[in-house]
Amino acid sequence: MTDADNLKRQAAAQALEYVRSGMKLGLGTGSTAKHLVDLLALRVNEGLEVVGVPTSEATRAQAESLGVPLGTLDEHPVLDLCIDGADEVGPDLTLIKGGGGALLREKIVASAAKQMIVIADASKKVEVLGTFPLPIEVVDFGVAAIRRGIDRAARNAGCHGLLTLRRRPDGHVFVTDQGHLILDAAYHSITNPQALAAELSNVPGVVEHGLFINLASRVILAGAGGVTVIDR
Ligand code: 5RP
Repeated sequence: MTDADNLKRQAAAQALEYVRSGMKLGLGTGSTAKHLVDLLALRVNEGLEVVGVPTSEATRAQAESLGVPLGTLDEHPVLDLCIDGADEVGPDLTLIKGGGGALLREKIVASAAKQMIVIADASKKVEVLGTFPLPIEVVDFGVAAIRRGIDRAARNAGCHGLLTLRRRPDGHVFVTDQGHLILDAAYHSITNPQALAAELSNVPGVVEHGLFINLASRVILAGAGGVTVIDR
């Protein structure tokens, strides 16, 4: 396991301390969340009783293969806890998410949870969001017009930058689990995430964006110096 992987696993292990039998759990997506599902499966095999609601088909497949009991958000519209990774953690636990392309389901699941815990290696903590390109999920219709709408909206919030249509490693256009496209916005510095979030949400064709505001209540960061827990 690489050093970074080791840190991700430490953060995931710490988050499991907050999981109790009987909980309905939102299960995040990404390499850090993958550790969480691995470790959760070990606890389930020891007798922990939880129901997981996955935020992506990838997480569903992993959890299913490891024997973690799963349900849907329609069956469990209120979750006790959601545990997920993040691409950046900014001031007041604002987040950029969606590097793995699961931001829409992730935001719906996090919003349905009484508490969201973010797990990450310490390199994800930033003073200002935006070094990581902001994923924006859009419908597959009129993308050129949607891009112009996003540019206008971003300018209103003091941001500008290149929008790149996300592609898979094989060159094909990346399509989300919900059948949408992702534009990655290189804004570099998002000084007012609340304003940008409000502007982007108003653009016709934008399904969701990767700014998570007032959702994470706790962040667990694992670094070389140990694990730090930050509460909002
Ligand atoms: C997926 C996400 C992930 O949580 C985010 O990309 C972090 O991933 P990783 O744990 O692999 O660094 O938002 O849509």
